[in-house]
Amino acid sequence: MIKFAIVGAGLWGESHAAVYNEHPHAAPAAICDLDGAKAQAFAKRNAIPEVYTDYREMLEKCDCDAIAIVTPDFAHTDIAVAAAQAGKHMLIEKPLATTREDVFGIMEAVEKAGVRAMVDLHNRWNPPFNTAKQLVESGVYGKPLHAHFRLTDNLWVATDMLSWVERSSILWFLGSHSLDTMNWIVGSCPVEVFAVQNEGRLKSLGINAVDTYMSTIRYQNGVIAQMENSWITPNGNPCVNDFKFYLVMENGKLDIDCSNPHLLLVSDQERMFSADVLVKNHVFGKAKGFAYESIRSFVDKLHNGEEFHVSLKDAANVSLALLGIIKSAKIGRPVEVERI
Ligand SMILES: NC(=O)c1ccc[n+]([C@@H]2O[C@H](COP(=O)([O-])OP(=O)(O)OC[C@H]3O[C@@H](n4cnc5c(N)ncnc54)[C@H](O)[C@@H]3O)[C@@H](O)[C@H]2O)c1
Repeated sequence: MIKFAIVGAGLWGESHAAVYNEHPHAAPAAICDLDGAKAQAFAKRNAIPEVYTDYREMLEKCDCDAIAIVTPDFAHTDIAVAAAQAGKHMLIEKPLATTREDVFGIMEAVEKAGVRAMVDLHNRWNPPFNTAKQLVESGVYGKPLHAHFRLTDNLWVATDMLSWVERSSILWFLGSHSLDTMNWIVGSCPVEVFAVQNEGRLKSLGINAVDTYMSTIRYQNGVIAQMENSWITPNGNPCVNDFKFYLVMENGKLDIDCSNPHLLLVSDQERMFSADVLVKNHVFGKAKGFAYESIRSFVDKLHNGEEFHVSLKDAANVSLALLGIIKSAKIGRPVEVERI
């Protein structure tokens, strides 16, 4: 049995607790959150025996094998480094880290301690994207040539759902997903990026963050791509994300639209929305959907010793490329991407 301690009793910590409770080879051992009352309530809801407000104390006292790091985007590094030093394996929420120093700090700590780590870049488990990857790899349609990726959030995410938007970016929150998925599908790494940014909408609402990034990406294997990430899609959009991908290959084209899959449309007296059943759903009380599959896969691979489907190096390279995008948007020129 792999005993898990979760750091971060927020929205996404719940996804981790659900899997560690259900998985035959996992058990939740502890929850840690800076907010003690929140951690207590989380523990009660998810049948977790130990509660902490300091991850260092938790690492000292809790008899666990692995840590799930589900703190805000900017708050992964110290916990990951301490977990590695304590000899714990870890599943880190995306993005791995948001500065160059943090990326290298985590990589070095994990390598030195010889522990295993994966970043939860879960769109590799998203059925249309996973199938697209298989189609590209089959070679039937020839080499990938160019691609577009749009992944945005409805405004509500920045105004109501997240309390730490100003300390992250739509690039860290969603761009990490779109870039990792695109890198994986085209089978290459960005070597050069040129990006522009727009701001004003969020600032008018008192939130000091960039609204939108448009990034042009050149890959090592010659693929060229454009990526759009924005916090400001109007709330009337039927799905919380506007989520579209298209890829042109030598002899074929793939189109994915995850924004409005029409699998389940729910209407009330004001609006209609598309329920995100592919991401998460419950069937007779069991957690289903690709958001749970990635966490489940981490437990499976930890249990059987096989390689994770997302390497730490891939996740580190996503963060380094996003840093290149941020720099390019700031200086108004193309930027060469650093790679591990
Ligand atoms: N895989 C996905 O698609 C997905 C979806 C949503 C969120 N996430 C990621 O999960 C992470 C958490 O997001 P969330 O929506 O749950 O945020 P949240 O704000 O709902 O929860 C974060 C929790 O972490 C706690 N926290 C912060 N610093 C801490 C520390 N040093 N020690 C202990 N607790 C601490 C906060 O008190 C808060 O309760 C982020 O990195 C986010 O990008 C991933």
